[in-house]
Amino acid sequence: MAKMAASMVESGEDAFRKVFKFYKRRNPPPDFSDVVDFSRGLPSDKIVKAKLDPTAVSDVEAARIGLQPVRDWRAFGLQGYPGFIFISNPFLPGSQPFWIRQCLKTYPQKPNVCNLDMHMSPSETQDIWGQSVRGLSTPSGKREPRTLLERLRWVTLGYHYNWDTKTYSSNHHTAFPADLHSLSSKVTAACGFPGFTAEAGILNYYRSDSSLGIHVDESELDHSRPLLSFSFGQSAIFLLGGTHRQDAPTAMFMHSGDMMVMSGQSRLLYHAVPRILPAPEGHTASFLDLCCSVSHLQDSSVLESVPEEDWKVCSRYLQSSRLNVTVRQVLGPGQSFPEIPTAHLKTDAGQTAGYHDEHVEQDSGKRKRSSSCDSAELQTNHL
Ligand code: SIN
Repeated sequence: MAKMAASMVESGEDAFRKVFKFYKRRNPPPDFSDVVDFSRGLPSDKIVKAKLDPTAVSDVEAARIGLQPVRDWRAFGLQGYPGFIFISNPFLPGSQPFWIRQCLKTYPQKPNVCNLDMHMSPSETQDIWGQSVRGLSTPSGKREPRTLLERLRWVTLGYHYNWDTKTYSSNHHTAFPADLHSLSSKVTAACGFPGFTAEAGILNYYRSDSSLGIHVDESELDHSRPLLSFSFGQSAIFLLGGTHRQDAPTAMFMHSGDMMVMSGQSRLLYHAVPRILPAPEGHTASFLDLCCSVSHLQDSSVLESVPEEDWKVCSRYLQSSRLNVTVRQVLGPGQSFPEIPTAHLKTDAGQTAGYHDEHVEQDSGKRKRSSSCDSAELQTNHL
């Protein structure tokens, strides 16, 4: 691998795609020894300490949303990526289950939009959780078809992203979840971005063989505001590249509870998720085993404890899945969407698969995608 890594590091014709394919490969499996692991502080020559503002969020405010005091967060930057901040699981023990259940039970509910809406009626996608509970309680080898929850690929919140037009618009907006808004504004404030307004969210649901194509998130109208990402469940390789596909990306592990902030010069960089990986032992305990041990809930807490029967469903789902939530501020202060003549308005009815880069998903869209490279190329201009 040392040789492979060295040749990949050189920039060149679509270096990003080469690295993407390398980490996506199953046979033989890639060597992960060059992957940055912030949880272990390795390799130390690439990782720098990030400076946070511990005064921006009080300990009580942090605890209300399930976070440790900001002074205890392990926040890092990456050499060569100014504006990129990685926070290694700052959640309080036992508080991830609340956010995980929100992603699986609450956020997929109407009026939020999901991939299943693209070819199912609103009444059929009304209660994704309720329709999946029984199936998920049965050992997976014994049952067919998959539950709606297992067929979920993406959910949009707030200004609902239109995958076809690659835009947000004022006429497709629903209330952004208050709890996620609160989490986002506290994290961004601690990172030096007071006044961040969470206006749009995209949740991605990954199975163990899923990946996410190479893309840049540029549809938001104000790029001076950071992009925020929260990960839960199984781990992933995240690739962070440059402003061109020729720039070789840096690979890093993302584990459950990890957060990323892409801001400043790192706000508009190419990125992708070529691979989902089993969470390492210690990390599994942090999200699977500690449910309902939330002893620190205050009266004013945003968090609620997760009933055991709900957690059983979540933990079964997470045995082979990863969740990622990205939160965006779409408009700058005083900014509004450009006027679009009504005749040019496209509805969401025909939207397809989002930017998931996987084999045919009966439910995730109508287009058959045969290879990651095709799909990754399709994503070049995404967002
Ligand atoms: C991730 O799943 O970590 C990345 C999601 C995205 O780029 O939208």
